[in-house]
Amino acid sequence: MHSLTGKDFMAINDFTREELLLIMETTRELKLEAKRGIYQPILKGKSLGLIFDQPSTRTRISFELGFQQLGGYSLYLKPGELHLGKKESIKDTARVLSRYLDGIMIRWNNFEEMKELAEYADIPVINAMSDVNHPCQALADVYTIIERFGNVEGLNVSFFGDRSHPTLSLAMFCSKLGINYTHCAPKKYQIEKKWTDQYEENCKKFGGSFRQTEDIDEGTKNAHVVYSDVWWWLGQEGEVNERAKAFAPYQVTNQLLDKCDKDVIFMHCLPATRGVEVTDAVMDGPRAAIYDEAENRMHTEKAVLSLIMS
Ligand code: CP
Repeated sequence: MHSLTGKDFMAINDFTREELLLIMETTRELKLEAKRGIYQPILKGKSLGLIFDQPSTRTRISFELGFQQLGGYSLYLKPGELHLGKKESIKDTARVLSRYLDGIMIRWNNFEEMKELAEYADIPVINAMSDVNHPCQALADVYTIIERFGNVEGLNVSFFGDRSHPTLSLAMFCSKLGINYTHCAPKKYQIEKKWTDQYEENCKKFGGSFRQTEDIDEGTKNAHVVYSDVWWWLGQEGEVNERAKAFAPYQVTNQLLDKCDKDVIFMHCLPATRGVEVTDAVMDGPRAAIYDEAENRMHTEKAVLSLIMS
């Protein structure tokens, strides 16, 4: 029996394959109950602080309402609202918040600072996206893949575009489940060795494979899932022209999807830049699983919250 009580949720690789599968199974149960209108107050009376240093649609709403569905009370702390890391040390903020709250969800660009907060907090801390990972997104992504395909071992997931924090976490989760993962992008934008070493180590243990290629035909071959993400992030505005040119061949179009497995689905963590990394026709087409993926953010997060905070 695996107990996750009291654990932080900071990175996919902090969890065993069995623990991650427990989160997937708990998600299945909670989603089934929610569809029947059943909301068990597993976290009745508990409080969760939601700290953001950037805007959010999915993360803010899914955590806030998801926690309420579990019977708890959540507190939205918008960017710039806390002294955290500016007028007050991370250590002091962590210790003070631990006296008020039962858990912290934090979106914070600097992962090292987020880890410091988790180290000094006496309560579970959940990473809701940093500069190097987005583990909550990976949970929803993999859950969506499981829902669509059932047994995921041997599936081929191909990502087209810039290495991004959501996809670094997705590749990690795939490497723990025996899923074959291909990152298809110009060499300059491929994933660094410090991450790929971890993926390859997991693949050795759990089956599956990880590879990177510039070749779109190699990326599309037998792909069951095509994933894309934005081509530039906040702070990369000066690189827009260079990136747009480099990634143009990797735009996800219906023609690109036609080269994949006949049952291919398209995924994107959203927000998407329609007409840039993906066309409107794909976003609005029958192969897009993007809204299921967004909905599953709430079910998977409820699973994590119920496992670590109950
Ligand atoms: N995918 C995701 O994290 O979306 P938000 O930025 O809207 O939270």
